[in-house]
Amino acid sequence: MPDEQQISMNQSCIFIIFGGTGDLTHRKLLPALYKLQKHELLPDNFAVVSVGRRDKTDEGYREEAVASIQGSRKDASEEAVDPDILNRLIQRIYYRRVNFDDDHTAYRALQTCLEQLDRQYKTNGSRLFFLAVAPEYFGVIVTRLKERGMLNNRHGWQRVMIEKPFGSNLKTARELNRTITDALPESHIFRIDHYLGKEMIQNIMALRFGNSLFEPLWNHHYIDNIQITSNEMLGVESRGGYYEKAGICRDMLQNHLLQMLALVAMEPPVNLEPESIRDEKVKVLRALRPFNVDSAKQDIIRGQYGPGLRAGQPVPGYRDEERVDQNSMTDTFIALKAHVDNFRWAGVPFYIRAGKRMNRRVTQIVIEFKKLPGIEFFDNFKNQNPNLLVVEIQPNEGLFFQINAKKPGNELIMERIDLNYTQSSWVQTNSPEAYERLILEALRDNKSLFTRWDELEHSWQFVDSIENSFKHFTPDFPNYTAGSQGPMAALDLLRRDGRRWWEI
Ligand code: BG6
Repeated sequence: MPDEQQISMNQSCIFIIFGGTGDLTHRKLLPALYKLQKHELLPDNFAVVSVGRRDKTDEGYREEAVASIQGSRKDASEEAVDPDILNRLIQRIYYRRVNFDDDHTAYRALQTCLEQLDRQYKTNGSRLFFLAVAPEYFGVIVTRLKERGMLNNRHGWQRVMIEKPFGSNLKTARELNRTITDALPESHIFRIDHYLGKEMIQNIMALRFGNSLFEPLWNHHYIDNIQITSNEMLGVESRGGYYEKAGICRDMLQNHLLQMLALVAMEPPVNLEPESIRDEKVKVLRALRPFNVDSAKQDIIRGQYGPGLRAGQPVPGYRDEERVDQNSMTDTFIALKAHVDNFRWAGVPFYIRAGKRMNRRVTQIVIEFKKLPGIEFFDNFKNQNPNLLVVEIQPNEGLFFQINAKKPGNELIMERIDLNYTQSSWVQTNSPEAYERLILEALRDNKSLFTRWDELEHSWQFVDSIENSFKHFTPDFPNYTAGSQGPMAALDLLRRDGRRWWEI
């Protein structure tokens, strides 16, 4: 049998989405399944069971799924949804009602349904569960599935994909991890950080380990500082209830931003096996210097947006968002100076920032190289710009490299040259979406795009050090206008070091 067919046989399964009526399923998971179907990456023997707390028929749910998939096109330039492909997917989507913390009755009914679909689709007991539910249900769902023997079928395989947030601090993350690992082995757990599924984040390794131009310079001898930014124009939308408990540290820093930092700062892995990559990322997270009250006061800028404008339209301040306390002290912005205390990065600041309701949407990593020392003695080269390498993650996907060269003409004067590679325009809108890739990799049993427990453990340790020090000072919120660059103090964080945020 050819390899490809073998792979596809191994991937045969039922994909069960807990949280099937939720926002994530409709905005991301169903469109991702459609794309996988379109690219013929779904196995033939495959069905989807969406599980939710509301009453719905299969037909009713399918209609909603069609609307979500059709509505998911980013813009008119994206190919229209093909009705035949859509129909092939929709026919194998089912809906079942389960109260997640229900006793065994609902889970028993679900199990019967899965067994019947197993016979129909020849999926041999293999299950890929996706927990797209509020975090308080992660533990109970996994426990119920275990109690019903649904995680240790004698036939096939069982895997569980778990959305973030994985806990709200180190203690609760440990408790959750204990519950989950009691129910199934680490090798069957796929903890999601959807940033790892983004095209340009995967490109970081290719860029670093595929270019003799960069890797020899990738250390404190040549790099002045690294800037990691993830700014959004959106506010908290309808997620005020969740966000009040999370804030930007738990929502973005603990996961997405620290994962980007780990990929940028890690040593070359011994090979590209998932465990080898994760071993190296863990070492970086362990080397992050924790904050204390003094260093937090000095090197962390907190922010919360007040009312302002988005695209010329007035938008409310955070405290006026739905399900947000009028006196909330939740952070919607953070900028900080972090240090990775190891040989490679001694003395190199990692400036990290993320914010909601900012003036532009941008996720990018800027590597600022040191200037050449001799340049001081070349009068005409005094206006030398630092070399910058920028990995543009979104909304543009690309690379940007800033170098200096001679300005054309009779004088020997230096000018800045920008080398720009825009992948998103080259591949049009074809870069796979993060969730498309994550589902595919979980079907393939490839864990490199998922976080291992010890990665989470060390990132929580770091974030706990920040959250604990926050208890000792009260910022004056709100302190930035929606649609602005965030608090002015975030600019000073670099200015006082003689640096600036690069807005590329
Ligand atoms: C999620 C956060 O993990 O990432 C959201 O919970 C945030 O608050 C989102 O908006 C950002 O993801 P993306 O892919 O739009 O950058």
